[in-house]
Amino acid sequence: NQYTEEINAFEPKSAEELESFRIRFLGTKGLLKDLFDEFKTVSPEEKRGLGKVLNEFKKLAEEKHQSFKEQFESGNSGQASDLDLSLPGEGFTIGGRHPLSLVRKEIVEIFKKLGFTVAEGPEIEDDWHNFSALNFPEEHPARDMQDTFFVKKDAENGDIALRTHTSSVQVRMMENGKPPFRAIMPGRVYRNEAISARAHCFFHQVEGLYVDENVSFADLKQTLFYFVQEMFGEGTKVRFRPSYFPFTEPSAEMDISCTICKGDGCPLCKYSGWVEILGCGMVDPNVLENCGIDSKKYTGYAFGMGIERITNLKYQIKDLRLFSENDVRFLKQFQSEI
Ligand code: PHE
Repeated sequence: NQYTEEINAFEPKSAEELESFRIRFLGTKGLLKDLFDEFKTVSPEEKRGLGKVLNEFKKLAEEKHQSFKEQFESGNSGQASDLDLSLPGEGFTIGGRHPLSLVRKEIVEIFKKLGFTVAEGPEIEDDWHNFSALNFPEEHPARDMQDTFFVKKDAENGDIALRTHTSSVQVRMMENGKPPFRAIMPGRVYRNEAISARAHCFFHQVEGLYVDENVSFADLKQTLFYFVQEMFGEGTKVRFRPSYFPFTEPSAEMDISCTICKGDGCPLCKYSGWVEILGCGMVDPNVLENCGIDSKKYTGYAFGMGIERITNLKYQIKDLRLFSENDVRFLKQFQSEI
């Protein structure tokens, strides 16, 4: 009884105190050992009651020792536990998406809502898919060494080059299928240009193609108008200027009202209030025929935009080189869900 009280009152302040408690009660030469030795000598009648008392006593000492042992081992003072289960956990540090991937995804989502599928093709192309099928005349300057990275000359396919636009995917799509076609083609393209804040030797495009019976320029305008409202916000104005591409006729370039000054004039739009974002037009009948499509029955429109340009306008980025330098200080500004 006297020992029970002692054990109950025991509050060790250190691991050493706990250890001397263990030796005194539970050690091989400890009190409990003595008591159990004595127990062997008592009469069988006494054993029953005494055994129970002894076992409870042993259990009490062991539990006391165990509870403090855990506290000292986890580095605590032996008083209250420092473990705070209500603290927030440590988060994982995850990367974010590249700004160009974010904007590409956004563009794809917008056109998906209009029923466009996504098509892809090779980055190394032959002359036919990148130029000839698209109605580029033999002597067209875009085929020139200035713009195109030629890879090799192939006896069967002529020049092999890094594609200069994803219009090549449109050709592949039309060659391999039947109208109607309604798809966009995101991808990387290459042009032999000196690297500067405004030009790079590669960039990313999203081109679009819609071929069916009775497709008109009005359809093209409405589609692009919808895209711009979704991408840059409602109220963004669009304007079409006549232009020239070998593969579309008529052709146009589309400007939007400046995303910064909303048309009032600022350095971004060089005080014109407008910024160009894409080229477009009605697919030239020659292109349809080159791809085995009856140009009497079908018409179509096509458009192509640079993802870098759209991203620059959306995030006010002034130097193209930032996209490919992998500077974390730049990239981590674009936090996103994965
Ligand atoms: N392929 C053109 C370019 O790379 C863009 C474009 C696509 C223009 C479709 C008109 C129609 O500049």
